Amino acid sequence: MDLRGYIALCEQTGNLKRVKAEVDWELEISHIAKIVEEKSGPALLFENVKGYDSPVFTGAFGTTQRLATVLGKDPKLSMVELTREWLNLSAKGVIPAKEVKDGPIFENIVDSDKVNVFSFPSPKYYELDGGRYFGTAVFMVIQDPDTGDINLGTYRMGVLDDKTVGVQILKGKKADRIMKKYAKAGKKMPACAIIGGDPLHIFASTATVVGAKSAYDVVGSLRGEPVEIVKAQLTGLPIPAGAEIVLEGEIDPSQLRNEGPFGEYTGYYTEELIKPIPKPALDVKRVYYRKKPILWGISVGRPVGDMHILYAFTRNASLWSDLTKMQIPGIKSVYTLPEGSGRFITVVSVQQMYPGHSDQVGAAVVASNTGTYGDKIIIIVDDDIEADDLPRVWWALGTRYNVARGTQIINKGRSTPLDPSIGVDENKFIMSRIILDATIPFDWKIKPTEIKPTESVQAKVKARWQEYGLD
Ligand SMILES: Cc1cc2nc3c(=O)[nH]c(=O)nc-3n(C[C@H](O)[C@H](O)[C@H](O)COP(=O)(O)O)c2cc1C
Repeated sequence: MDLRGYIALCEQTGNLKRVKAEVDWELEISHIAKIVEEKSGPALLFENVKGYDSPVFTGAFGTTQRLATVLGKDPKLSMVELTREWLNLSAKGVIPAKEVKDGPIFENIVDSDKVNVFSFPSPKYYELDGGRYFGTAVFMVIQDPDTGDINLGTYRMGVLDDKTVGVQILKGKKADRIMKKYAKAGKKMPACAIIGGDPLHIFASTATVVGAKSAYDVVGSLRGEPVEIVKAQLTGLPIPAGAEIVLEGEIDPSQLRNEGPFGEYTGYYTEELIKPIPKPALDVKRVYYRKKPILWGISVGRPVGDMHILYAFTRNASLWSDLTKMQIPGIKSVYTLPEGSGRFITVVSVQQMYPGHSDQVGAAVVASNTGTYGDKIIIIVDDDIEADDLPRVWWALGTRYNVARGTQIINKGRSTPLDPSIGVDENKFIMSRIILDATIPFDWKIKPTEIKPTESVQAKVKARWQEYGLD
């Protein structure tokens, strides 16, 4: 599977539209994509981009059906069910990547003086954006100099000039911690920015991957077969043999440059709109690309678009996996809401087994590797409600949640600096959060009696349904 294979699969299943009319990379592509995504429409392949002879692809994960398609699962599965599939696949263990000698990514190689990032149709997404963005559906590969571990991470990349892209590596990310090791040694960090290959790479590069020697091996476990990698020629870093475009170069941790602003996935700009925030920058030394490379973009911006479905899914999988590793019993389902920008709001359904169990679940979400980073509203419900059954979650909040008893406010925890609810003069890396326990207390001797349909009557009326003329 590579990006082309995925696009073909989308087309076969009625999930793709080709746009043949000429479109502008400046605002037009992103605006079409956003309108289509907000209506849960198909993925789009823009085949006629003004001034370019290669296409732009958007909306890859605009519906849960397409998340299922990329995982090779039943398109009817919900996000919760797909997350269970992810956990089952991961439980089988990682599948190491396989190195091959050559691949389509080496069809075109452009060196030093001739490197020109503007030769690809990077869109400008929103009017107040600082420029064009090569990287939204991108991932960066780097190597930890101490452990040799291979890290994949998705960080937005704005085009700064023909040979440089800015990389928004936020403070505290694994890539930030690795970059600091290079900085301490006074070295530049070799890096490759990659678009394409198996779209599952974006799952691995946006999820919190812990404990794997190489994030490519995690992709292998999700696909059920090894990722085929080749070595980039200057840095030796592994890159997918079937990638579309690779920018190879290095990041000098001591040379930050202004990049941004960008219409973020929260639906807001950050304070960089008024005050630039210097970022690491990838100095591109060599470019590899396939014939007619496909530039894959994500429209980001306000929810809900494919960004939010993607991020909700990968964070959900990381969080549920964290809770499993923490051996919290009784977890029935976990759901991170795309509407909460795919990060800020999570519901957990639990089968309570002892007093304090639901409190433990709330605390575990907050303490977990994934949840601690920016999960702000955590709702716990009983196991008769699936975490993504939102009408019944609201019902539980209305009827089982007792405000004084069921509320825990945690005053301090790790935030994403992109959270617009934190004022520009506040510490953007720290936030408060709330746990809403909407379960019926385990130790109540007398519990509210729920109104349930009488099964025999229900069966009888169903049998006579057509007779009622209600079909
Ligand atoms: C479309 C998309 C864009 C993202 N952009 C950024 C970004 O610009 N900076 C960032 O630090 N994280 C960004 N993220 C989140 C990271 O990909 C995620 O936190 C990942 O786990 C980082 O990997 P790391 O912890 O190995 O560094 C983005 C996620 C998605 C889905």
